[in-house]
Amino acid sequence: MPADPFRLGWFGNITPPEWKTPFAGRDPWTWTDGRFVVDMVRNMERAGFDFMMLEDSLMVPDTFGGTAELELKHARYAPKLDPVVVASMLAYATEHIGIVCTASTTFNHPYGLARQFSTLDHVTRGRIGWNVVTSSEDRAAQNYGLDVLPEHDLRYEMAEEFVEAADRLWHSWEPDAILADPVSGYYADHTKVHPVDFVGKHYRTRGPLNTPRSPQVRPVISQAGGSSRGRDFAARNADMLLNIPDGVEGMKAYRDDLRRRAGGFGRNPDDLKCFFVVYPIIGATQEEAEQRNREWYARVQHNYEVQMLHFAAVMEIDMSGFDPAEPLPDDLSTNGHQSQLEDWKKILGGRSLREAFGAMRVQSIELVGTPDAVAAQMDEAMQEVGGDGFLIYGQPISREYVAQMTDGLCPALQRRGLLRTGYPHSTFRENLLSF
Ligand SMILES: Cc1cc2nc3c(=O)[nH]c(=O)nc-3n(C[C@H](O)[C@H](O)[C@H](O)COP(=O)(O)O)c2cc1C
Repeated sequence: MPADPFRLGWFGNITPPEWKTPFAGRDPWTWTDGRFVVDMVRNMERAGFDFMMLEDSLMVPDTFGGTAELELKHARYAPKLDPVVVASMLAYATEHIGIVCTASTTFNHPYGLARQFSTLDHVTRGRIGWNVVTSSEDRAAQNYGLDVLPEHDLRYEMAEEFVEAADRLWHSWEPDAILADPVSGYYADHTKVHPVDFVGKHYRTRGPLNTPRSPQVRPVISQAGGSSRGRDFAARNADMLLNIPDGVEGMKAYRDDLRRRAGGFGRNPDDLKCFFVVYPIIGATQEEAEQRNREWYARVQHNYEVQMLHFAAVMEIDMSGFDPAEPLPDDLSTNGHQSQLEDWKKILGGRSLREAFGAMRVQSIELVGTPDAVAAQMDEAMQEVGGDGFLIYGQPISREYVAQMTDGLCPALQRRGLLRTGYPHSTFRENLLSF
């Protein structure tokens, strides 16, 4: 039976890379010059990834015990660089791979953002994507002069309007507006450059954009919402989705739901691609992979302090007073990642925090083995789910791990006909939707 190919994306953090291994080199100090990410993205392109996504947030968390001490000790959320700026370095270093930057609708204005992403679409020659987030932290709101974030569903209402305004701006230049005609003396034809006069409930913008029409016009829109409101937003606006549903059944249910919602908005469900978060662990032998998996569990997954911090930062709930021997209190709520809090409540159940955080899911399915064994596991899962792709997420990241993926796993997938070996089209969207 011929193989059914799927796609790979990389979930990138422009944060300090792994600094506790003997192979860390100078990267823990020099990553801020952007070269570490440039080397990574070149490897991803060589290996056949569809895109590298760059996550972002806008604060130094200090919810845990009212201090940033442990956050900065572990350097998970901060420090980090602005992906929109780093993306232009990645653009110049690559030719084919998609580059997806996270940017918040709550802390930008449609005109400025439309202009930045139009510029990025130009300098990538049509390979930019925008991971639309509404932001989830009051600390970020305070950095932008607000006391708290707008309420969860209101943020999505604002995001809908934001994307509509940006879209109008991206289309404000007709395709043939640039003449560059020495005979008539006209560079651009003003009759083909239009004000948009957008007046919404939350945003107003006159337009036109002062950036000409870019190769994709509208960047590839990525989204990671999990709540019902978030899913509707994605089904209406997104080209690709990033999520962590539990197990193959959860992945299938999530994908089916999003495809159904997209159909409900009059879209072709095949124009929406779902990417599921995984952290494959490979070794030359099954034993080596299992040993690596045990080490990872001990270092990250079972590290109570790291998991508590992650939870506290994302949910903005101060966990420092909670007894590790007791379960999570029932009455917790957040204005941030609502769907994740509900998921985690279910997963944590009545278990003690120490036990439950050790078992916390950070990926959709576990993939451990030789490159060929993991390729086979991915194939089997994708066939059951129905298709699309995986998003590889590891943090902190090392050059060693990147090489295991790009020079171990990817060739194994390619040998089975499961992963692209080239990029037939010039734009990210065309490649993403090419099968
Ligand atoms: C894989 C993945 C990546 C995400 N990346 C970001 C990010 O870079 N920045 C951010 O503010 N939120 C990020 N989020 C959070 C989502 O945008 C969203 O707020 C969250 O999944 C909760 O969904 P809801 O807003 O629909 O409740 C990410 C979520 C997932 C699952």
